[in-house]
Amino acid sequence: MTRDRTWLLFGGPYGNLQATQALLAEAGRLGIPPDRMLCTGDLVAYCGNPVETIDLIRESGIAVVGGNCDEQLGASASDCGCGFEPDSACARLSAAWYAFADSVVRPDQRRWLASLPGRIDLQIGGRSLAAIHGSAHSINSFIFAGTPEGEKRRSLDALGGDGVIGGHSGLPFTQLLGGRLWHNPGVIGMPANDGTPRVWFSIVSETEAGLAIAHRALPYDHEGAQAAMRSAGLPESYRKALATGLWPSLDVLPDRERAETGRPITEASTLWPARQPARALPAV
Ligand SMILES: [Fe+2]
Repeated sequence: MTRDRTWLLFGGPYGNLQATQALLAEAGRLGIPPDRMLCTGDLVAYCGNPVETIDLIRESGIAVVGGNCDEQLGASASDCGCGFEPDSACARLSAAWYAFADSVVRPDQRRWLASLPGRIDLQIGGRSLAAIHGSAHSINSFIFAGTPEGEKRRSLDALGGDGVIGGHSGLPFTQLLGGRLWHNPGVIGMPANDGTPRVWFSIVSETEAGLAIAHRALPYDHEGAQAAMRSAGLPESYRKALATGLWPSLDVLPDRERAETGRPITEASTLWPARQPARALPAV
């Protein structure tokens, strides 16, 4: 693995300071500097240390795509803008953490969150990748592995380039769609509904054969993150989820992801094969 041809991608720190610290430590262990790291947004959500988490990522210099939670806090909006159905469990549960975060985030942090770009373009191994939060059409579209391919293709068409690095949905996956890529590195702020407390990031490396995209699990001090949520007075549903690895509501999940609830995810890699050089036509 060549260091300067390797990127570390992650999403959703969600105010989880302990997970963010663990991720930065892992990046250091892997020898990946902040200018080879990218976050797909939502620095603040369910967990207990929004202020410290924003500061840590901002000071690190990591590239950050603005998520809906960042956009809403930046605008001093009234809710997280996650796109949950009104009166759903997700909407009710998000009201508590949003109100807490909204009460503690500093004005300078709000201005910085509001300044985050909605799209960051990366070139890795000759591939053009658009990093966004939701879809090409909406910052809060939930795009999962089980989301119909047509929806992903429409975003890929609209964004141009060779692939998308997405966020928002909270579950890691990699799909190749007719030679184009949809990759979600997962989130570090909340487990992946797989029945374990681990959180997820990815390593994308340029190799001779193409881009190697590896989903990696991150164990961290989830008990410390739970303690911070308790101190902040946040409700217990998402606090319990940090340990059980099970989401308190499955409302947003397609059937495929819902059926995989509680099934531990395994670390896996996908090779996105290098393009073959065009063959010269024989002389006539
Ligand atoms: Fe989001």
